[in-house]
Amino acid sequence: MNKEKFYITTPIYYPNDKLHIGHAFSTVMADAMTRYKRMRGYDTYFLTGTDEHGQKIERAARSLGKDPQQHVDDIAVSIKNLWRELGISNDDFIRTTEERHKKVVREIFMKIYAKGDIYKSSYEGWYCTPCETFFTERQLGEGKLCPDCQRPVELIKEESYFFRMSQYQERLLQHIQDNPDFIQPISRRNEMINFIKSGLEDLCISRTTFNWGIPVPTDEKHVIYVWFDALTNYLSAIGYNTENDALFKKYWPADIHLMAKDIVRFHAVIWPTILMAAELPLPKQIFGHGWLLLDSGKMSKSKGNVVDPLQLIKKYGVNSIRYFLLREIPVGADGYYSEEALVQRINNDLANDYGNLVSRTVAMVEKYFGGKVPAPEEKESKGELEIFAAETAQEAARFMDRLDFASALTSIWRLVSRANKFIDETMPWLLAKDEGKAAQLASVIYDLVETIRIITVMLTPVMPELPPAVWNQLGADPEENKLWTAVTWGGTKPGQVTVKEAALFPRIEIKEQDIPAGKEEMMSATNTTEMVPLSNEEISIEDFAKIDLRVAEVVACTKVEKADKLLQLEVKIGSEMRTIVSGIAKHYDPQELIGKKVIVVANLKPAKLRGIVSQGMILAASDEQILEVLHVQSPIVPGSRVK
Ligand code: MSP
Repeated sequence: MNKEKFYITTPIYYPNDKLHIGHAFSTVMADAMTRYKRMRGYDTYFLTGTDEHGQKIERAARSLGKDPQQHVDDIAVSIKNLWRELGISNDDFIRTTEERHKKVVREIFMKIYAKGDIYKSSYEGWYCTPCETFFTERQLGEGKLCPDCQRPVELIKEESYFFRMSQYQERLLQHIQDNPDFIQPISRRNEMINFIKSGLEDLCISRTTFNWGIPVPTDEKHVIYVWFDALTNYLSAIGYNTENDALFKKYWPADIHLMAKDIVRFHAVIWPTILMAAELPLPKQIFGHGWLLLDSGKMSKSKGNVVDPLQLIKKYGVNSIRYFLLREIPVGADGYYSEEALVQRINNDLANDYGNLVSRTVAMVEKYFGGKVPAPEEKESKGELEIFAAETAQEAARFMDRLDFASALTSIWRLVSRANKFIDETMPWLLAKDEGKAAQLASVIYDLVETIRIITVMLTPVMPELPPAVWNQLGADPEENKLWTAVTWGGTKPGQVTVKEAALFPRIEIKEQDIPAGKEEMMSATNTTEMVPLSNEEISIEDFAKIDLRVAEVVACTKVEKADKLLQLEVKIGSEMRTIVSGIAKHYDPQELIGKKVIVVANLKPAKLRGIVSQGMILAASDEQILEVLHVQSPIVPGSRVK
C-alpha cells in the first residue's frame, strides 16, 4: 500500500541561549501532530534543528571567550537533550553549520544569481542585530526602534547582494489568494496579505561586517544573510540536489512549516519568493501559533522571567508538561503560563478527572469481577458511552487535523467527564447488591473500561508516555492500540486481566511556601470556601419578577487580556447583541462556551470590568472545586424568559 506522506518542520532554534518553555511549544505541537499522523497511517517526516550562524551568535560566543563553533556545538547538545526529555520523535536534526546544509545554501544562492534574481549593489539602511532583520524607514517610525523587539537598530552601510523579492510580489499574492490554507490561521493570512500589499522591496541577502556565516561562493568577503541560510534547512535536510535525494523526492513540498507568529513573515514572504526564484514547489502550509506568555509579558532572558522546561519536566513529569502546553494555548491565540495554572491542570484534569476515572474503574473490575473485565450484555442499540465516544473520536480528529489541540483536548475531556458522571448515575455499588442486576453491572463496567481505552488511544499523540501504564492497568494489548483505528468501539476483550497500580497522576499538594507572593488570596479562595447557610430572608414573587432572566446564546468568547479570571462573551438575546464579562476563565476555555445557551440577568446595571462595559451577568453554580455555567440544551429560542 502506498502511504500518503506528511512532512512537518519546526523552526530551527538559535543556540545563543538556553531554551525556555515557550520555545518548546512549536516542537511539542509538531511532535503531537506527527504522532497523530503516524497513528493515522501517514508516512511522516519530522524535522527540527539549530540555526547556528549570524552576528548575534558570533558576538555571544566572543563575549564568553569562546570560538563560535565551540559555542554552538555545546548548545546544540543541550537542545537535543531537551527534545529527548520532552519525548520529541524527530526524524532528523539539522545544524546549519553542517557541510550538507552549507552546500545546498551555496547552490541555491548561485542558482538564483545565475538567473539574474540576485544582484550586487550597496546597502544603506537599518538593521536589528538581535532579530537579524533589515527594516525600512517606514517600518521603524520616529523612534528608530525595531518594530519587533523595540530595541535600537543600527545604521548599516555596506556593499551587499540583493534578492529581487519585489519581482515576486504579485505572484505571491496570487498564490495566497488561490490557496486559502497556505497561511494559517486566518488572522495570520490577513496580516500577511496586508504586509505584501503594502509593497515588497528587494531584500539585502549578504553582509560584510562579520564572518560567522556561509560565504557567497564567488565573493568570499560576503556571508549569506542568516534567514536565507536558515530557511534553506527545510531542503538541505532532505538531501535536495544531492545524489541521495530520495527523501527530497518523497517529502518535498513540506506539508506544514510550524512556528510562532513572530517569524511567520520570514516563512510566508521571504521563503516562498526564494523558492519561486529557485523554481521549486512551495510548502503547502505555513502555520503560525500564538505565544506562551507570563503575566509579566513574553518570556525573555532580558526580562529575567524565563521558565526552564527541564526543571518543570523533573518536577511534574513530561506527560503533564506536554498536556499543559497543548491544552492551554488556544489555536492561533496566545496562552498564559503560571505554575499555579499548570498545577491546576494537573490536579483537575489529569489527577481528578482522568486519573480517578481509571483508578475507580480498575478498582471496580477487581472488586466485582475478580480483576477480569466482564463481557457486556447483548444490547439491541448502542449504549450512551459508545455513542458519545464515537462522536468524540470524530470531533477530536477534526480538531487535530487542524492543529487545534486545545479544542481536541477539550472535546476528549467532555468524554472523560461523561464517563465519570456515568459512574455516579449508574451506581455500580448498588447494582452489585442486586443479583438480578448482574448483567447490567457487567455492561456498565465493560463500557467504562472501553471508554478509558478509547480516550487513552486519543491521548497518545499528546502524552506518548501515558499509554503503556494504562494498557498495563487495563490488561489491554499495546500493539492493538497503536493506531487511530483503535478508537472504534469494542477493542476491549472480556477476560482481560486488570492490574491495580499507583495513581497515574498523583495530586500535587501546594505548600504555602510554593505559592509566589501575591497569589495567596487566589489559593485560599479556592481551598477554604465553606457552604454558605441557606438564607432566612424571604422575598416576594414580585421581587423575584424584577429580575429579568433570559436565555442568551454565546456567539463569541475570548479571554480578557491580562486578566486571568475573565472571559468576554458576546451573546445574542432575541435580536439584541450584548457584551458580558464573566469571571469564569479558570473553568472554561473560550471555545467551550460558543454555541451554549446560557442564562443571564438581563436587567443588571452595566458595570465596567478592565475597561469593558459588561451588560449583564451569567448565572453559574459552584462549590469548592467545580463551577458550571447554567445553560439549556433544548432548541429554546435565545431571548426566551426564565421564570
Ligand atoms: N532561528 C529562528 C528560526 C529559523 S526557522 C528557519 C528563530 N529561533 S528562536 O530560537 O529564536 O525561536 C524559535 C521559535 O520559538 C520561534 O518560532 C519563536 O517564535 C518561538 N518562541 C520564542 N518564544 C516563544 C514563546 N514565549 N511562546 C511561543 N513560541 C515562542 O526564531
